[in-house]
Amino acid sequence: MELQCCQSSLFTRLGCIFSAFLLAMMFSHAVAYDPLDPTGNITIKWDVISWTPDGYVAVVTMNNFQMYRHIMNPGWTLGWTWAKKEVIWSMVGAQTTEQGDCSKFKGNIPHCCKKAPIVVDLLPGVPYNQQIANCCKGGVVAAWGQDPSAAVAAFQVSVGLAGTSNKTVKLPTNFTLLGPGPGYTCGPAKVVPSTTFLTPDHRRKTQALMTWNVTCTYSQFLASKNPSCCVSFSSFYNSTITPCPKCSCGCRTKNCIKSNLKLLSVPGVNTPRKDAAPLLQCTSHMCPIRVHWHVKLNYKDYWRAKIAITNFNYRLNYTQWTLVVQHPNLNNVTQVFSFDYKPLVPYQSINDTSMFYGMKYYNDLLMEAGPSGNVQSELLLQKNPDTFTLKKGWAFPRKVYFNGDECRLPSPDTYPHLPSTATISSPAIAAALSAVSLIIMLVCKLI
Ligand SMILES: *[C@@H]1O[C@H](CO)[C@@H](O)[C@H](O)[C@H]1NC(C)=O
Ligand SMILES: *[C@@H]1O[C@H](CO)[C@@H](O)[C@H](O)[C@H]1NC(C)=O
Ligand SMILES: *[C@@H]1O[C@H](CO)[C@@H](O)[C@H](O)[C@H]1NC(C)=O
Ligand SMILES: *[C@@H]1O[C@H](CO)[C@@H](O)[C@H](O)[C@H]1NC(C)=O
Ligand SMILES: *[C@@H]1O[C@H](CO)[C@@H](O)[C@H](O)[C@H]1NC(C)=O
Ligand SMILES: *[C@@H]1O[C@H](CO)[C@@H](O)[C@H](O)[C@H]1NC(C)=O
Ligand SMILES: *[C@@H]1O[C@H](CO)[C@@H](O)[C@H](O)[C@H]1NC(C)=O
Ligand SMILES: *[C@@H]1O[C@H](CO)[C@@H](O)[C@H](O)[C@H]1NC(C)=O
Repeated sequence: MELQCCQSSLFTRLGCIFSAFLLAMMFSHAVAYDPLDPTGNITIKWDVISWTPDGYVAVVTMNNFQMYRHIMNPGWTLGWTWAKKEVIWSMVGAQTTEQGDCSKFKGNIPHCCKKAPIVVDLLPGVPYNQQIANCCKGGVVAAWGQDPSAAVAAFQVSVGLAGTSNKTVKLPTNFTLLGPGPGYTCGPAKVVPSTTFLTPDHRRKTQALMTWNVTCTYSQFLASKNPSCCVSFSSFYNSTITPCPKCSCGCRTKNCIKSNLKLLSVPGVNTPRKDAAPLLQCTSHMCPIRVHWHVKLNYKDYWRAKIAITNFNYRLNYTQWTLVVQHPNLNNVTQVFSFDYKPLVPYQSINDTSMFYGMKYYNDLLMEAGPSGNVQSELLLQKNPDTFTLKKGWAFPRKVYFNGDECRLPSPDTYPHLPSTATISSPAIAAALSAVSLIIMLVCKLI
C-alpha cells in the first residue's frame, strides 16, 4: 500500500515534469523560427504594372529566401481572400484550381470568381503565350542556399472589379501557402516602396505603380506533429549500430509493407497518390527518411565520416533534397565527396553548420525505396587538437535536418562509445541508478 502510494506520487511527479518538458518543446516549435536559418522566409510580392478600366494587372513573385527548405513536387499552392468583390479576368503562368460561380457575367467570362481563389503553377511545357519569366515549373521552387536563381516563382494576374488607383485598391487578405504540405503561416500584405525594374538594355528604370509584400514563415510543428526523418549512428571503434529511436516518426495508424514482399512487383504500387500518402517500408522507426552517420576513420590530423540517406517511401522520389548537419568540426571541412556542400553561417561567430545536397544529374534525385533508394557521401575533416575526441559521442552530429525538417536523433546514452570509457561509465551509471533507487525505496519506507 505504502509503496504503491509513493510510486504513484512519484509517477505523477515524473509525468508532470515530462508534460512540462513536452509543453516547452511544443512552444519552441510553434514559434516559426529556425535557429539554423533565422531569417528564412518566403516573400510574396505583388507589383501592379498597369491599371485597367476596372482594376489592375499585377505580377506576383514568390521568392524563397530559406537557405535549405525548398518546395518539392507537387509544388506550391497559394491562396488569398479578396477584400471586395474582385474577380480574376485572366492569368498567365499559373491558374486557379476552380473557376467558381461566374453566372452573373455576360460576354466576357472571368478566369475565377471565387472570393478565396486557390492558385497553382502550370506544368513545364505549356504554350509560350501562357508563360512569363520564372513560371511553369510545376510549383517546384529551389532553396536559396542551393540555387538562388531557381528559388523564385512568378505569375501574372489581371484583376477586375477592383480599385483603379493606389488609393482605391484594397489589398487581398488571409494569404495561405502550401509548400506542398502545411507548415507555412503568412502575415498580412503590406504596402512597400514600389519595385523598380531595369529595362533589358540596362539604360532605363521603370517602376511598379504600387507594390505590396506578404511574408510566410515555416514551422515544422504546424507541418506535422511527428518528425519525418531519423538518424542512426555507427563507428569504427564499436561494432554496435545505434538505430533510429523506435517509432521516431510515430507508429500509430501507419500502414507499411515488408521490403521483400511480392506486392512490390505489382505494377502501379509506386504511383504517387493525389493526397501524397506515403507507402512505407516496415521499419522500427517508421520514418520515410533515415540519415546514417558513420565515424569511419581516425587519421593523425584528419578524420573521416560517412553519411548515407535512405528513402523508405515507395511512393516518393525526393527531388533536389537537402541535408543540414550541425557539428563543431564542420568549421574545418577539408573535402566532401559525392555531395555538393556549403557552410551555413547564420551567426557570424559560429561556424558549425553545413548544408549538403545532391550533385546535378548525379545524385540530386533520391529515388523511391528499394535498391536505388539511397545516396551516400564521405567527409574529410581536419582535427582541431584542442577539441577533437572520440569520447562521449563528440564525433556525432548535434542536429540533422532533411529537406528543412529536423530529424529525430538517438538518445545520448545509446551512442556507440569507446570500449575504454564503456568499462568506466556503465558501472558508474549503474551505481548512480542503484543509489537513486535506494533513495526512492528509503523515502517510500519513511512514508
Ligand atoms: C525575409 O527574408 C529576407 C532574406 O533573408 C530578410 O531580409 C527579411 O528580413 C525577411 N523578412 C522577414 C519579415 O523576416
Ligand atoms: C518585398 O519582397 C521582395 C522580394 O520579393 C524583397 O526584395 C523586398 O525587400 C521586400 N520588401 C520589404 C519592405 O520587405
Ligand atoms: C499613390 O500615388 C501617389 C501619386 O501618384 C503617391 O504620391 C503616393 O505615395 C502613392 N501611394 C502609395 C500608397 O503608393
Ligand atoms: C482564411 O483562410 C482559411 C483557409 O482558406 C479559412 O479557413 C478562413 O476562414 C479564412 N479567414 C478569413 C478571415 O477569411
Ligand atoms: C522515380 O523516378 C524514376 C526515374 O525517373 C521513375 O521511373 C519512377 O517512377 C519515379 N517514382 C515515383 C514514385 O515517382
Ligand atoms: C566555415 O567553415 C568552412 C569549412 O571549413 C570554411 O570553408 C568557411 O570559410 C568558414 N566560414 C567562416 C565564416 O568562418
Ligand atoms: C582547422 O584546424 C586547424 C588544425 O588544427 C586549426 O589550426 C585551424 O584553426 C582550424 N580552423 C578553424 C576555422 O577552426
Ligand atoms: C559500444 O557501444 C554500446 C552503446 O553505447 C555499448 O553498450 C557497448 O558496450 C560498446 N561496446 C564496447 C565493445 O565497448
